[in-house]
Amino acid sequence: MSKSIVIFFSHAGDNYNVGNIEVGNTKIVAGYISELTGADQFEIVTHKYDGMAYTPLINLAQEEADNGELPPYEGSAPDLGQYDTVFIGGPVWWGTYPQVMFTLFKDIDLSGKTVVPFTTHEGSGLANCVGDVKRAFPKANVTQGFAIYGHEVRTGKAKVEKWLSGLGH
Ligand SMILES: Cc1cc2nc3c(=O)[nH]c(=O)nc-3n(C[C@H](O)[C@H](O)[C@H](O)COP(=O)(O)O)c2cc1C
Repeated sequence: MSKSIVIFFSHAGDNYNVGNIEVGNTKIVAGYISELTGADQFEIVTHKYDGMAYTPLINLAQEEADNGELPPYEGSAPDLGQYDTVFIGGPVWWGTYPQVMFTLFKDIDLSGKTVVPFTTHEGSGLANCVGDVKRAFPKANVTQGFAIYGHEVRTGKAKVEKWLSGLGH
């Protein structure tokens, strides 16, 4: 039987359009995916941005992206041996996923797996995320991605469900 996992990063706290949120937008989508497909989860966690207001975070994230920094994540990379399908999700930060996700990408091998990228965003859609995932995992079967506005996720479960049913889940 095919097994799936959702690997995601999500930033709780002060954010664009949704105010100060306790659970990040992408984490909510990851929750829907697990609920609807039974997928396991691996959350990429860093405490680097804890408690930061929106504007300083925007500036720090831009600096990290410009410099190609790879901030460390907590714990160690997941063992993905048992999974055929790997959902990858995160917010769009400056046109792609947050840099800490790329730190994890260097530590995992998705060759031969089906990889399903998704984003939450406030206008950029998938931005460069699918291309960047393809570059990180050239031997994976990277499918078309799914994007949803961050401010829509709390009322957007039906959209996620529709997307997943289109994938055959
Ligand atoms: C540092 C930072 C950079 C962002 N850059 C973009 C962007 O380039 N394009 C976009 O559409 N939204 C951008 N956003 C908005 C987030 O993508 C959006 O709020 C997302 O839903 C946040 O997800 P999260 O709550 O899971 O972290 C940015 C937000 C932050 C905090």
